[in-house]
Amino acid sequence: MLITLNTGAFAQSSVNSIHADLNSESFLLNTPFDQAPEPTVTLVVKSLKTYCGACHGLGKLNFLPSEDYAENWKTIYTATSPSTGRVWRDAIIDVISWPTEAPPAFDQVKDPLTGRDWMPKGIKRLQMGEATIVPQNSDTPIGIRSYILEELSNFQ
Ligand code: HEC
Repeated sequence: MLITLNTGAFAQSSVNSIHADLNSESFLLNTPFDQAPEPTVTLVVKSLKTYCGACHGLGKLNFLPSEDYAENWKTIYTATSPSTGRVWRDAIIDVISWPTEAPPAFDQVKDPLTGRDWMPKGIKRLQMGEATIVPQNSDTPIGIRSYILEELSNFQ
């Protein structure tokens, strides 16, 4: 990309601020999970508890085993799903990457061969499809599913 710039104090200061934004963006991408800011951890885990906790806070597919947000965040990044052997974070990104913004229809499972489906199952799918949040450092509401996807992708 070639950018032609005017010289002068004003132009220079806007260039600096563009650089500052790009730098903070690249810091965020691929950051180790244990460096995630506490508000992000809280918001993501709270959302997962709301839309997934009824089925994934107990039993064999439990990725929300704790009362503590940071503990659950760690589980999501370090424990594996017994059904596919993948780290929960990767498995979760997979099943909430709906093909459209709108919730997938209940009669179209994700993978007909194995019977594995999009998540969440049931009424929670419709509720999550409607829910929005305003992330920290932003004025613009975004879909809660997009928010979870973005944060789980940012940290590794
Ligand atoms: C009503 C119960 C229910 C809810 C709510 C629910 N799940 Fe599930 N989930 C299941 C069941 C049952 C399976 C196993 C069968 C399947 O994959 O379709 C499963 C499987 C999964 C798997 C697959 C594990 C693997 O190894 O690939 C992931 C990941 C998952 N769920 C994540 C989520 C997330 C994230 C949410 C919330 C956004 C959620 N689930 C909400 C019942 C639920």
